[in-house]
Amino acid sequence: MTFTSTRFGQFTYFSTQLGDTNWSGKNILDFGGNVGNILRDPNSTIDPERYWCLDVDKDSIEQGKVSFPSSHWLFYDRFSFFFNPNGVRSLPLPHMDESFTYIVAYSVFTNTCETDMLELVAELKRKLTPDGALAFTFIDPHYMSWGECSRNNLQWRLDLETERHHITEAEANDVDARAQNAKWFTLVNGADLYIETEDVRSYPPEEQRTFHVFHTTDYMRSLFPNATIRPPVNNEMQHCCIIRN
Ligand SMILES: C[S@@+](CC[C@H](N)C(=O)[O-])C[C@H]1O[C@@H](n2cnc3c(N)ncnc32)[C@H](O)[C@@H]1O
Repeated sequence: MTFTSTRFGQFTYFSTQLGDTNWSGKNILDFGGNVGNILRDPNSTIDPERYWCLDVDKDSIEQGKVSFPSSHWLFYDRFSFFFNPNGVRSLPLPHMDESFTYIVAYSVFTNTCETDMLELVAELKRKLTPDGALAFTFIDPHYMSWGECSRNNLQWRLDLETERHHITEAEANDVDARAQNAKWFTLVNGADLYIETEDVRSYPPEEQRTFHVFHTTDYMRSLFPNATIRPPVNNEMQHCCIIRN
């Protein structure tokens, strides 16, 4: 099972969030960068030879290597519920000699349990240059990303799961009601809601379909008190958490 990202615009998103459009001459680590779509953003100023991509999806790493041979592609065989169900739990980051001005992770910790996110953020921070920044996205379930549609981010996800017939409308309404006051929660396979707990029942690898983690902005502030948290930009639904050295 491989996953090829069809999302684009990551450079525009992160350069706006970081207030810097000139990334040329800077080492960049794209954590969970998949096939490297950030390099395809027409606004990108990243030097391909200064771009490193680390991902738990082996096929994406292989594809990225073919498209951008002068960049650096590293397969990271760490467990991920959906993306690498047979991976190694708590595997440390592979050794890299370089340090990075920007480490970005678009839509990676939105699929990762909290223990993993905290462990990985701590490890990634150690790979920053003294003037560097780590920027990663998260999804606030109660935030209305697209004002005009009057559905919040969780409802948007539930609408999608309903349209795809993964869950019924009644199940969607039930999840929505139960998640109302939660600071954070995980929605597994569209229907199984785990509120403020990592005690997720075990699913056979072939049943590990989706693992969407939602965090409120206040909760992220409590986890990362020194971070700057910014609302979505570039018509996206994801907030950005920025940690500077
Ligand atoms: C939703 S995709 C986003 C891909 C890419 N950032 C983009 O915007 O196109 C999430 C990516 O994170 C990767 N991933 C998930 N958990 C990871 C982990 N613990 N370490 C590194 N990559 C991970 C997945 O394999 C997948 O490529």
